[in-house]
Amino acid sequence: MRQPLVVANWKMNMTSPEASVYCQRLRTLMQETTTPAEVVVCPPYTAIEVVRAAFVGSDLAVGAQNFYPAPKGAYTGEVSISMLKALDCRYVIVGHSERRLRFGETAETIGEKVKVAVEHGITPILCVGETMSERSLGMTEKVIGQQLLTCLKHLQSDQLAQVVVAYEPLWAIGTGRSATAKDAAQLATYARQRLQRLMNGDTDAMRILYGGSVAPDNIAEFAAADGVDGVLVGGASLDPDKFQAIARAYEVK
Ligand code: PGA
Repeated sequence: MRQPLVVANWKMNMTSPEASVYCQRLRTLMQETTTPAEVVVCPPYTAIEVVRAAFVGSDLAVGAQNFYPAPKGAYTGEVSISMLKALDCRYVIVGHSERRLRFGETAETIGEKVKVAVEHGITPILCVGETMSERSLGMTEKVIGQQLLTCLKHLQSDQLAQVVVAYEPLWAIGTGRSATAKDAAQLATYARQRLQRLMNGDTDAMRILYGGSVAPDNIAEFAAADGVDGVLVGGASLDPDKFQAIARAYEVK
C-alpha cells in the first residue's frame, strides 16, 4: 500500500517571515484533519530553516526545490545535497519543467541529481511532462517514457522505490487547466509498467504523483484516480487553507 503524498511547490514565493506565518496556520489547520497523506512543503532555500523549525514535532515535512549535484566546492550560488540534508529535507524536486526550460537543465544533469539524492537518502521528486504540441501529435507516452529512462538510468532497479515521479503536463502548469484524472491515471499505469519492463524494478512501491493546476475544486478526482499516489501543487499551495483542503481530500470517508 503506497502512502499518499501531497507536496507544496512554493516556487519563488514567500519571504521567510511570510513562510513563518504560513506554517503556523498550516500546523493549526492540519490538527483538524486525519488525512493519511504525507504532507510536504518545498519552500525556496531561504525559507527552508523557518519551515523546518515550524514543523518540528508535527507530521509535516520540509523539502527543497533543487540542488547542485557536486559534493562541495567552487560553485558560486549553488546548494549541495548535504546542505539540504543538514536542514532535514526529506524530499527534493528534480527536473521541474521550469528548470528545464528557463535554466537549461538537461536530462543528463537531472539524471545525476536523481542519483545523488537517492545516495544521500533524500527522495527525489522527478518531474516529467509533455508539451501541448507533443500531446496533440499523440506523443505523450513516448516523451514521458524517454524522460523517465534518461533521468533514471543511473539507478539500480532496486532503487526505483526510493524515487517519486510527478507527471506534470507542461500545458497544465499554472494555467488553471488541469489534465483529467483519467489522463493522470493512464499515464501513471503506463509509467509503472514501462519502468517495470525496462528496469525490471519494483515499481509497485514507487509513488507517482500528478501536478498541474491542482486545486481544492478538482482534487477529489485526482485523489480517487487509480495508481495516482498524490499531487504536486504550485499556485494553490501558497494559501494554507487551500493546501490543507487538498490534503484533506485523502481522508478515508
Ligand atoms: P501549479 O504548478 O499547481 O501552479 O499548476 C504545479 C507545479 O509546477 O509543480
